[in-house]
Order: sequence, then C-alpha cells, then structure tokens
Amino acid sequence: MFSVLEKRLLWNNLAVLGGILLIFTVSVYVLFAQSTARQLDERLVLLARAVSLSVESEDGKIQFNESIYLGRGQERVVLGEDATAQWLTSAGQVMRSQGHLPLENKPLQLNRLLTQERPSRARIYSESVHDPENGKLLGYVRVALALATQENTLNRLRWGLAGGVTLALTLATLGSFWLTRQAMRPAEAGYQRLQQFTADASHELRSPLTAIKLNTDNALRHPEQLSMAEIQDSFAQIQDAADQMTHLTEDLLLLARADELSEPDLHALSLDKLLAELVIEMQGLAQGKQLDLSYQAEAAPTVLGDTHQLKRLFRNLLQNAVYYTPPLGQVTVMLQAREHYALVSVTDTGIGIAPEHCERVFDRFWRADKARSRHSGGNGLGLAIAQRIAGSHGGDISVTSQENEGSSFMVKLPLWEGGTRPRQLKR
Ligand SMILES: Nc1ncnc2c1ncn2[C@@H]1O[C@H](COP(=O)(O)OP(=O)(O)O)[C@@H](O)[C@H]1O
Ligand SMILES: [Mg+2]
Repeated sequence: MFSVLEKRLLWNNLAVLGGILLIFTVSVYVLFAQSTARQLDERLVLLARAVSLSVESEDGKIQFNESIYLGRGQERVVLGEDATAQWLTSAGQVMRSQGHLPLENKPLQLNRLLTQERPSRARIYSESVHDPENGKLLGYVRVALALATQENTLNRLRWGLAGGVTLALTLATLGSFWLTRQAMRPAEAGYQRLQQFTADASHELRSPLTAIKLNTDNALRHPEQLSMAEIQDSFAQIQDAADQMTHLTEDLLLLARADELSEPDLHALSLDKLLAELVIEMQGLAQGKQLDLSYQAEAAPTVLGDTHQLKRLFRNLLQNAVYYTPPLGQVTVMLQAREHYALVSVTDTGIGIAPEHCERVFDRFWRADKARSRHSGGNGLGLAIAQRIAGSHGGDISVTSQENEGSSFMVKLPLWEGGTRPRQLKR
C-alpha cells in the first residue's frame, strides 16, 4: 500500500517539477531567440543606412565612397564572410557588390526584412537612395547578413539547456526519491500504530462480547431448564460485560478527543484536598488486599487544573499500585512542592516493572502480562490516559521501578502562581 503511494507521490513531484522546468526553459529559449533575431535585424537596417550614405551623386552621376562607415564616420565596416552589400541602379541593375555572402538574384522588395533560404540562410533588407539635394531617385542598396552565427549560438543554447534540464531532472528524481522516503516514514509508522491500536481495541472488546454471547446462547437454547438463580447469574455476567465495554469505549473516546483533553476546564485547586479525598476513596480497595495505603503531604500547593481529570489521573496510578502489589505491601502517596512544580509520587512495594518495559507502560494497551492484567479489571489504557492528562496540564509523568521491589510513579504539575493558564505541553 505504501509503495504504491510512494510511487504516486514521486511521479507527481517529478511531473510538477518537470513541468515547471520545461516552462522555464522554453521561456528562456524563446526570449533569447527573439532578442538575438531583433538585434540582427537592427544591425541589418543600420548597415543599409550606412551603405546608402556611401552613395553620392555628382551632376547626376553616381559616386561611391570606398568605405562604408557606421555612425558619423567613426567605424569603418568591412564586409566579410557573413555580410554583403549591393548598390543597384534605379533600373534595378547591380552595379557593385561588396562582401562574400552569396545572394539570390531576386526582384527588390523595399523596406522589408526578408529571410533568404538559398544559397545560404540570411536576412535581407533593401531601400532606395535619393539625392539629398533634389530628392531624385539615385538607385537602391541591398544588404544581407548571414543567419549562421546566430543559429550556431541558438544551437549551442539548445544543447546547453537540454543538458541542464537533464541534469536538473536527474537530481530532482534523486531528491524527490529521498524526500518521499523521508515523508512516508512517519506516515508508515503512524499507520502501523493505528493498525496495532485497532487490533488491540478489537481484542479488548472480544472477551466481554464472548461472555454475552455464551450467556444468551445458553439461556435461549434451554430456557425451561434454567433456575431463577442461573438466570440471575447470567444477567449479572452480561451486565459485567456491558460495563467493561462501556468503560473501554469511554477510555477510548477520552484518548481520541485529544482537543478536549488539551483544553481542560481549568481552575485553581488544592492538590492536597484532591489527593486526601482520593486516598480515602481507595482505602476500601487497599484494605481488601491487606495493603497499607498512606498519604503524606509536605506542602499544600495550588495548581491550575481540571478536578475531574486530575482525579482520574491519580486514581489510575493508585489502582495500579494496588493491583500490582501483593498482599501486605505498602502504597505511599507523597505530595511535595519544588520550584515551579508540584510533585506527586505514588510508590508501591509491588512486582515492579522490568527496565526495558519502563518506556512502554504509557503506550496504549501495553501490559507486562496480558493474561493477568485482564483479571485486574484494567484495560491497558490507564497510564496512557494519565500521561495525556498530565501533558494537557502542562506537566508530565515518569516512572522508576525495580523488579520485585516496587515502582514509583512521579507526576509533575506546574504550580499556580496567580496567572490564568499554565504553560501547555502538547503531546
Ligand atoms: N504500579 C505498577 N507496578 C507494576 N507494574 C505496573 C504498575 N503500574 C502499571 N504497571 C504495568 O503497566 C501496564 C499498563 O498499566 P495501565 O496502563 O494502567 O493498564 P492496566 O492497569 O489496565 O493493565 C500494566 O499492565 C502493568 O504491566
Ligand atoms: Mg491500570
């Protein structure tokens, strides 16, 4: 799937780049060709003017100056291989010719820039010459400039441009190839994560669904054989499964609605009060496992936060500490204030987390032991949600742990210092 996308991206890139390059090259070429053609024509007309000026009449007899001067007698023009000048009588007969560019013998077309194809390509221009005193027609001049030089230049330009375009396209291909690879990599990783996430979520939904199906199948197959107690038990199991699914979908929604989480309903609140309430709430669960759950507050910091979300964060940590600590263990909640942060640690004497797993505990659905955790009632989203909430409050969460000795989760939240909003750490 990604290689197809990558190819398409590559081709699109190249098509756009190639198109731009082509338009650019063609424009450069056309502009250059037009400007050289115009220059040649200007030279041609100037030459015709100079040649006309070399004609003089003396008592009706035409005289020629030996040399042709451009401008006011400053630059003497020597006509070589690529130019020819002709002087014609008023009857149109060639009287004199200078220069070596061969000309086709054709009737004169006055004051028009023409292109001659044979015997060699050239531009031709003719004009009439009048006596400056009485305005009488003295004759005509015809001048020609070869197109070869200009065409050679254009030819070289064409090759140069073609080479340049080829080189640019080759480099662009390599560059695009690298860029698309670069662009696709995170997309690919994201796609894989999404697939894994979907698989995990479906897997999580499967067991409650199976429980519901088993119970309903059983009840529908032999309804007459079921006792009241069995029916009650079936319904209880179905309700349990439904609760599990509700819990899961709520957690998933919470993680999916990132914007809602990153814009929590913030107000100044006392962390001490919040934690004390929560510890009381969790005492029942801890006593059920004969755990010693204690709370120590070294400070009474105020933070800007969302009570509901912060409770959820610390409840997840406390539940984990209780779940993953064997009976007779200890769970300690500690509240401190350091510089601009409130620090809350939840420490247990439980099973701990292997060092290579410490990074992963915050991943969605990640669990050290899939089979056992199922019994604990968690769905593997607790720490992912806790991390999200800490982040949306401008803080973070970290873990240190020793296998078989215990774990300590540390939450850092910015203190409320009279402002309105904490610095927001987006994640
Ligand atoms: N206090 C703890 N001690 C040991 N392992 C823990 C602790 N807290 C979390 N873990 C590990 O991290 C995993 C992810 O935790 P969590 O996201 O809360 O999911 P759940 O509790 O539903 O399994 C747990 O399955 C467990 O393997
Ligand atoms: Mg949990």
